[in-house]
Order: sequence, then C-alpha cells, then structure tokens
Amino acid sequence: MSVSDISNDNFTDNNVSGNVYCHLQLSRDYLQGQLPIPGDKSISHRAIMLAGIAHGVSHVENLLTSEDIFSTITAMQQLGATITESANGFTIRGCGALGLTAPDNVIDMGNSGTSVRLLMGLVAAHPIEAFFTGDESLRKRPMARITTPLAKGGVQTKLREDRYLPLHLKGGADNLPIQHESKVASAQIKSALLLYGLNVNGRTSVIEPTLSRNHTEIMLQSFGAEVSAVQLADGRFESAVQGVQELRATDIHVPGDISSAAFLIVAALIVPDSVLTLSHVGLNPTRTGLLEVLQKMGASIEIKHQRVMGGEQVGDIIVKHSALQAIDLGAEIAPRMIDEYPILAVAASFAKGVSVMRGLGELKVKESNRLQAIYDGLQAVGMACKIGDDWLEVTGSNGKTLRGLDKNAPAIKTHHDHRIAMSFLLMGLGCKAPVYIDDTASIATSFPNFFELLAQIGIVTGE
Ligand code: S3P
Repeated sequence: MSVSDISNDNFTDNNVSGNVYCHLQLSRDYLQGQLPIPGDKSISHRAIMLAGIAHGVSHVENLLTSEDIFSTITAMQQLGATITESANGFTIRGCGALGLTAPDNVIDMGNSGTSVRLLMGLVAAHPIEAFFTGDESLRKRPMARITTPLAKGGVQTKLREDRYLPLHLKGGADNLPIQHESKVASAQIKSALLLYGLNVNGRTSVIEPTLSRNHTEIMLQSFGAEVSAVQLADGRFESAVQGVQELRATDIHVPGDISSAAFLIVAALIVPDSVLTLSHVGLNPTRTGLLEVLQKMGASIEIKHQRVMGGEQVGDIIVKHSALQAIDLGAEIAPRMIDEYPILAVAASFAKGVSVMRGLGELKVKESNRLQAIYDGLQAVGMACKIGDDWLEVTGSNGKTLRGLDKNAPAIKTHHDHRIAMSFLLMGLGCKAPVYIDDTASIATSFPNFFELLAQIGIVTGE
C-alpha cells in the first residue's frame, strides 16, 4: 500500500476478512511457536501525533498498521503532517509547535476512541476549527469527558446531544491552561489534556485516582518535552506540562502490544500441552495487570530478555498450558488491564472456582458495552455467570471442556468490538460445540494479522 493510499476507505487486508459466522479449531492437538506481536496500538497513535507536531523528521518502526492507526494517520495528514511509508517503517515530517492547519473536511475517526479523544486535545490549542465524526460505535461513546475540561480553558465545542460525535471544535490561540481532577483513571482524558497543555501558555495538569497507562508522558520525554508525573500525598496521580514547548523530532520503535499478546497467552493457557513464545512485547507496568493476575491464577508465564526501549519496558513472554485457579479482583487493578477483561473472562471460564472482577464500570463505554457483551457471550456458551453495575462473576469449569454454542443458537454478537470477537473465537478452542461469532471485520481495527499468526501456532478457521 502506498502512503497516498493510506485511508480507511481503501484499507484491505487479506488476513482479516469480514466474513460472518466464523469459528476456530485446532489444526493439531496443541499450540506451539514463536511469534512477533504487532505494534502497540496506544503507542502507535501517540507516535504519529507527537511526530506530527514535532519540529523535523521522525522515523517510526514497527508501527501498528491497523484500521485505528490509519484513522490517526489520515487525520494527522488532514491537519498538515506529512506521513510516508517506507520499507523500514513510517517517516513523519511534523508541523512544528502550533503549526497544525485547519482541515478542509470532516475528520472521520472510524472506530478509534483514542484517536478522536487525543486529537480533540491536540487541535483545541490551535486557532483552527475542525469537525470530528466516527463509525456507529464511536458515535455512541461519551465525549463530554474531554470537552467539559477543555471548556475550562476557553475551547468552544458542540457535541450532538451535548455528549456524542459528531463534534464541532473551535480551538484558540489565547486559551488558558487547565487543571483537571478526573473521577476515572483514563489515559485518553489525561493524554488529551497534556497534548492541549503542550501548546498553551502556563501549567496544565491532570489528577487521576489511579495511574492509567503513561505512554504519553514517556513519549513526550523522548521528543524532548518536560513532563512531570508524581503520586500526590493523598495517593492520587498527577501529570502536568508547562506550555508552550516545541517537540524535537526523534526515532521511535514501537513495542508489541500486550493487549494483543493477551489473546495468544490465554489461548496457550487453555489448550493442553501448548507452549508459545511471544517476542518483543511492551511490558510497561501500567499495562501488565493481566500477566500478574494470570500468574496468581497459576499460569506458567515467564519473561525473558527484559530491556528498555525509548523509555518503555519490553521483553519476551513464554507461556505454557496451565491449570488455573479462580481469582477475586478488586477495582484498583482495573486501569492496568482495562482492555483485557474479555479475555480474562475466558481464562476464568476454565479455572477452578468462582472468579470475581470488580471496578468494571468503564467497560460499559468501550467499543461496545463490554460488560454486557461478555455476560451475553458467556451465557450463550453455557457458563454460569452474573453481572452487576460494575462487576462480573464467572464460575469456571476446572479445566473441563465447555459446552459451546447450542446447535440452533445464534452466533455470539460482537457489536463490532474487536476484543469481544477475538475472545469468543478463542474460547471456542476449549468447547465441545463450535463457538461462532457474528462478524470478524472489527478485528482489523487492532490486530490485522490475527488469523495469520493463529495459523502459525496451530489454529485455523473452521468449516
Ligand atoms: C487507551 C486508553 C484506554 C484503553 C484504550 C486505549 C489509550 O481507554 O481502553 O483501548 O491509548 O490511551 P481509557 O482512557 O478510556 O480508559
């Protein structure tokens, strides 16, 4: 694909088809192999945005080439950055501080919440107007969590029903710095405001109850910015920038996405005799909650070749099939594994005992209402489970094969949510009857070579 072709309209990937009613099966009795994990989605978004506003030319290696990332690339091109693809990765010529230009068309962010929320902050500090929209799922997700704090700095916005995309945003040159105390630990809120603060005179700060992923803070430092990140005396966390700061172009190597590795880790845990090595995976402690939880459940997970690249911890993960014990999780770990609950629910389904997961309120406003989608899917394959407003309880099978979908039952509804799709596809590997999902197209948003990697370790799509 040439760079001028980079857009979601012509994104075609042979590895992910939009075929409906897919299910998976083993091509041999166990999973085995060594796999490179595709680039981290959160870090890829940030690399494009920061390189896009830096002074000079940056090179980005191992950028995730998924639909969500193409949304960010296209948006940054619309805003004036020059982005080209070469054999070694992506080359980005940034616009320099306050250099973004007004887009002459609506910015369509597809399915990507991270793209739209971070860009709202970035654009808001520029004296330009922009219109943002997204797909059906993104147009249902809450956006006032970004526009409300931005309004404190003087940014003018108009959301549909005061909550949803489409959005009209009018940035300004004389905006004020913002001090925001967020009730939820959200890296998207924090990052949007830090990107805003970078281009506004004065100190912009965000306080959050628990530390959310800190890739923005780490990468801003790689681009030469000064960022402060501290734990306050009351236990909360504050990140802050002093504007205006110009970023200096730099080279970024994107580590593999632990949230994608999570699916393969759980697949190896539930299929007897499996051993997988997943290489070059990002191990930032704000993202490794699932590894710790699975280890507590009895999973054989070993980390090798640990190293630091561009401020991010990276390593290889070796995972072996294991008998799992149920786990009781409090809310405090949720921000460190927020995207991993669908696949953790699958692991818990094979564990011995009753697992409880709390503090899941944010799951209701992800690409789908994930709490409900997990519950509905588990019920459909015959699991005993319960949900409340922000918790999930799953009674595991103690390693026994699960029932799977009833013969005449409809396929699992994925609601165009990639993580629901991948979780239930893989759950089928431990079930007697096939587990069909209604659509695989969403997987291209985060894991474009999912089926190709599965084939390499012994998993194929069923008849
Ligand atoms: C992300 C932050 C998280 C996560 C999302 C990616 C990011 O969202 O769920 O997949 O890259 O900043 P919240 O900030 O809404 O928790």
